[in-house]
Amino acid sequence: MPSCTAADGTEIPYTDSRPGTGTPVIALTTDPVELPVRLITPRLRRAEDVEALREQLQLERLVLLGDASGTRIATDYAARFPSRVGALAVSGADAPAGLDVPVLAGQPDALVPFLQRAVTADWYWDFAVRQTRGESPTYERLSLAVAGDDELLALLTELPEPKRQPNLLFGVVRLLGGPVGDPAAFHDFVVARWAEIAEQMRTRATQTNESGRTALLLPLLAALPQPIALIEVGAAAGLNLYPDRYAFRYGDHTVGAGSPMIECDLTGLTPPDTLPTVVWRAGLDRNPLDVTDAGDMAWLDALIWPEHTDRRDRLRAAVEVARADPPHLVRGDLLDTLPALVERAPAGATVVVFHSAVLYQVPQPARDQFVTLVRSLPAHWISVESSGTLPLDGIPPGPDNLSHNVLALNGTPLAWTHGHGRSLTWFGVTPSEAAQRGK
Ligand SMILES: C[S@@+](CC[C@H](N)C(=O)[O-])C[C@H]1O[C@@H](n2cnc3c(N)ncnc32)[C@H](O)[C@@H]1O
Repeated sequence: MPSCTAADGTEIPYTDSRPGTGTPVIALTTDPVELPVRLITPRLRRAEDVEALREQLQLERLVLLGDASGTRIATDYAARFPSRVGALAVSGADAPAGLDVPVLAGQPDALVPFLQRAVTADWYWDFAVRQTRGESPTYERLSLAVAGDDELLALLTELPEPKRQPNLLFGVVRLLGGPVGDPAAFHDFVVARWAEIAEQMRTRATQTNESGRTALLLPLLAALPQPIALIEVGAAAGLNLYPDRYAFRYGDHTVGAGSPMIECDLTGLTPPDTLPTVVWRAGLDRNPLDVTDAGDMAWLDALIWPEHTDRRDRLRAAVEVARADPPHLVRGDLLDTLPALVERAPAGATVVVFHSAVLYQVPQPARDQFVTLVRSLPAHWISVESSGTLPLDGIPPGPDNLSHNVLALNGTPLAWTHGHGRSLTWFGVTPSEAAQRGK
């Protein structure tokens, strides 16, 4: 059972109804409850324990559910840390008065819409302060506006939970030509066109294909025995299958002479001197995108954040590379299609299976099955996924409060990475040492 460590060193176990999937509600309840939201239920004693749990779960804000006795702790926490509470729901007791946070009291079932809106609001809040702050003022402003917009939150909660994703909503609105620069105009557009937007959000997934992430793979690919047979899981359009054709700049160190030029701020490791030799490349995706299809490319363009003109230029340049030699992409689920692709890799090459920003879209049981599968294959395994998505041991605290991914080779965590590949902060053993460790 997972646990958190209280300030006095006491280990406090908790249950998690849906590990790794979505924003949780922290249930301070005496008896276990079952609700259609992710519930983390700890045995907390006082407000300080709630704060310790929040820090260890790396959550900016909490949605709290209290029952008759848990409400006392929740109320105390909300009074002392109001900026850390997105909402408080109370079952079996009166709503506490005088709190500076949204509060609702009622029977558990009646609290569900309130809790669902609150966790959706927290997703948008987190996207604003941990992902887009300092990266996209437009999306930071928009995401904060949605987090406080009851009408939009009510519409979003009509969708299955994974489909309420901020980047998906914003990408769909941009694809449909809607305004993202003015939150009021955005609100009106979403309300007026909701049926169409909801349909797009149900059928699409975010497929951001960020060639900048190849800068994260390069130190590992260059350190493995050459040549390489490269297999990407969740490849989207396959733009990360060409690390041997692009050029890279790590600070003042340049590798390769191709295009696009991918810049990455690397700390804690000497950058590689050579590009890998890739003799075979293939990818799989449940919905592969076609670099020659204008509609698919419009979707990739809509997913790039408004101010990121460098990423838009890089997308165009990477698409040119892929169009000149289109990638072999197989349509299918990662659990079904990967072994056959590994079998097809040419003899004599070092087979590398990699994936970046994929597993957050895969439900927990399938994620566990995938880890078992990939460890069983005769291949090296590179993962670039958000912290907590994979069961990796020995990850130090992140370099700052922002959201980062973790680069790992064969299950050994090695570095914190920026979501779009702009930085790589090394904390682990060298690439060669990691390659020698078993999977
Ligand atoms: C956010 S995109 C990332 C694309 C690419 N890895 C990158 O870093 O640029 C995630 C991709 O994973 C794919 N995907 C998600 N779940 C999958 C599954 N179960 N099987 C195969 N592909 C999947 C999606 O279709 C999508 O193209």
